[in-house]
Formats: sequence, C-alpha cells, structure tokens
Amino acid sequence: MNYRHAFHAGNFADVHKHIMLIAVLDYLLQKPKSILYLDTHAGRGEYDLRSKEAERGNEWQYGVGRILNVQFNSPLLRRYQHVIRDLQSHGVHTYPGSPLIAHSILRDMDRRVLVEANAEECVALRKCMRQQHSHNLTIDDGDGYHALRAYLPPKEKRGVVLIDPSYEDTDEFSKLQQHFIESATRWPTGVYCLWYPLKAGGVVNPFYAALKASGLPKLLQLEMWLRPVDTPLGLNGSGMIVMNPPWQLDDHVRKAWAELLPILAPDGLGGMRVQWMTR
Ligand SMILES: C[S@@+](CC[C@H](N)C(=O)[O-])C[C@H]1O[C@@H](n2cnc3c(N)ncnc32)[C@H](O)[C@@H]1O
Repeated sequence: MNYRHAFHAGNFADVHKHIMLIAVLDYLLQKPKSILYLDTHAGRGEYDLRSKEAERGNEWQYGVGRILNVQFNSPLLRRYQHVIRDLQSHGVHTYPGSPLIAHSILRDMDRRVLVEANAEECVALRKCMRQQHSHNLTIDDGDGYHALRAYLPPKEKRGVVLIDPSYEDTDEFSKLQQHFIESATRWPTGVYCLWYPLKAGGVVNPFYAALKASGLPKLLQLEMWLRPVDTPLGLNGSGMIVMNPPWQLDDHVRKAWAELLPILAPDGLGGMRVQWMTR
C-alpha cells in the first residue's frame, strides 16, 4: 500500500468528490433523525498543502486553488466554498479530507465510522479527529470493504456510505463492484457514493456493465474530465456513482459543472456526463 492521498489532496478530483459528498449529507440532514456516515477509505483526515508530498505536483493549485475565491452562482459550489473556508480557518494551508468535511456537517447524534487500512494514515486520522473532540465516532484500521459487511444495514436505517479507494490494485474496480452490489442489495435504501478515476484504456467499462446488470435502481453517474478521457496522461477525469441521490442532484450538478469546468479546464478540453445509469 504505497498510495498517499497527500500527493493529491485538493486536486480537481477531490473538488468533484467533496462537492457531491456535501450535497448528499446536506440533503439527508434535512430530517431530524440520526444517520450513519461510513467512510470506507478515509485517508488521514486533513492534509498540509505545504508538505513535500503536496508540493511535488502542486495538484491542489489546479483544483481547490483555482476556485476558492471565485464568485459562483451555483448553490452547490457556494456551499463547497463555505465548508472548505470554514475548515481552513485554523490554517489556510490545509485541505480537509472527507472525514473532516463530513464531521463538520454532521450533528452530534449522527454516527461516524471511518476506516483506513494504512497504519500511518490511520494514526494521523485518529489525531485529526481527536482535535475535533468528535462524538459518536469509530475509527477502524482495517479493510473498508469488510466494514460494509460489519456496519450495514445500520440501526439508524438512514445513512451515507462513501467508498473512495486508491486504485493501486488492478482488481480494485472488480472488488468495488462486488462489495458495493452485495451491500446495496442487503441495504438498498442507503445513499452510496462510489468514486472512480477516468483514465485511458477503458478499464472502467466492465464496472459500468456490472452496475447496469446489477438490477440496482437509482444509480446516478456524475463524471467530469479536464481532457479527453482517452488521453494517455494519468488521471483525466473524476467519476462518481451516487445510489439514491438527493432529488434534483443531477440538475444542480449540471449547472454547477457548467460554471466549474471553464475554470478547472481553461483550455476548453474538459467535459461532463451526468446521467441515470439505472432508474
Ligand atoms: C483516495 S484516498 C481517500 C481520500 C479520502 N476519502 C478523502 O476524500 O479525503 C484512499 C485511502 O484508502 C486507503 N486504503 C487503501 N486500501 C484500503 C482498504 N482496503 N480499506 C481501507 N482503506 C484503504 C489508502 O491508504 C488511502 O488513504
């Protein structure tokens, strides 16, 4: 396990992923009943943008760095800016990871379960969450896919599951689809967010086919790319499948991406796809 999210924190894929995570959490918290937030691949919780890892590619400067001070019309983008700025108030040179973003939105009554398999990252995650004096929190240093079986369905009956793997292994897509389909079949009313990379070579195609054939309803596919997805250059785009998304998320995201893309991909090579994979 060599992957370190510190190299990529705050890049365009994090922006894409975290905008949707915030939208999904905001929607579920409209009701006063408690929820479960399960983050199967949590990372270290917070990232120092001046670390040598972050400075290697300066990826955040082409992501969050481009958009934090732009005046947007889209409520999704404005909300994202607000959440991130708020979390940066104790250090503008940091970028929050999904556990910290979720924690800042959740209420005391909501349960947080964070799973991180890398021992060093997990130690950092524990330290980060201790500083938040977080209630109702479990941190596991195990395998996030096993946590799906251990924690779902939750006693709260409502919840958000973020599955955000590092795609180091060639079989990551097949592991993801297998565990997701198994969990969502067992607990079909949860809101699931599955992140995946868009790279050349069509590795994502069997994943699409498996999801379409799964019989699972209400799968919304939300993708954004900065250059054609077949460009042999690494990460071209960022994809997310949301199962049971908030009402009208597709419309809101289309409007948001229309404002975001010209800024993240100023050369005009970017694009987006927001469509129902299954209804
Ligand atoms: C893309 S990063 C997570 C970023 C985080 N979700 C965020 O948005 O801030 C993926 C993380 O998954 C961890 N990881 C890899 N395989 C795992 C597994 N099987 N179970 C749990 N964590 C794993 C990696 O160490 C890495 O920290």
